[in-house]
Amino acid sequence: MLSIRNLHASVEGKEILRGVSLDVRPGEVVALMGPNGSGKSTLAFALMGHPNVHVTGGTATYQGRDLLALKPEERAKLGLFLSFQYPHEIPGVPLSQMLRTAVGQRSGTLPPVREFLQTLDGKLALLKMDPSFAERNVNEGFSGGEKKRAEILQLAVLEPTLAMLDETDSGLDVDALRTVAEGIQTIKRERPEMAVLLITHYERFLDFLTPNRVLVMKEGKIVAEGGKDLADRIQQEGYEPL
Ligand SMILES: Nc1ncnc2c1ncn2[C@@H]1O[C@H](COP(=O)(O)OP(=O)(O)O)[C@@H](O)[C@H]1O
Ligand SMILES: [Mg+2]
Repeated sequence: MLSIRNLHASVEGKEILRGVSLDVRPGEVVALMGPNGSGKSTLAFALMGHPNVHVTGGTATYQGRDLLALKPEERAKLGLFLSFQYPHEIPGVPLSQMLRTAVGQRSGTLPPVREFLQTLDGKLALLKMDPSFAERNVNEGFSGGEKKRAEILQLAVLEPTLAMLDETDSGLDVDALRTVAEGIQTIKRERPEMAVLLITHYERFLDFLTPNRVLVMKEGKIVAEGGKDLADRIQQEGYEPL
């Protein structure tokens, strides 16, 4: 589904990705781990088409299409989704309004209000979230946990084919961590073909969301690949031995 070969990219003239190759197949949960600054977020941004990330070499195809030739909104229409490590606040804009607009952008027509609100209520119920949550302004005054829950709600409503979750676990206490992981699992049960690229540097999150594969990135390259046991080993020994 996603196939990256020898991808090179730079940010502000500095080479960050130095030949990344990886594949993600439909329905797979792939964990991408690695120390701070290794280029994990940069990879996700490169795949989404962030204007600050300049791809200087290599290829990335998605469902057989040249991803790098597409505009960010076209990538989103193809079903790519990125949840941010640091979600932005959008003061004055209710979450429900932002989501309806996003669904409209993706499908080409804005869904009728009543129909959309029904869908939204269904997703809120599925994720065991209070209906009033969607009427709050996007991330305004949200706690760390609420911001991440808002990202999961977006994931549920937008129904991507590949969900990239960038440190959705960071800053969460253990209960919030479990809630978020359960939310992702619930969405995945509904849509098993959805692939998940889980960017994390904590093995703990993977106890709640077991990955099919674990990849480790260091200095802009994939340096190790394994199963969940690789994540356990990193927890014990750190990234140094890799
Ligand atoms: N906007 C930016 N300007 C300059 N350097 C950046 C910028 N964003 C990221 N970097 C640098 O790119 C490298 C990789 O960062 P990042 O992809 O965020 O790593 P990770 O997500 O693995 O922690 C780091 O050395 C970081 O300092
Ligand atoms: Mg990061």
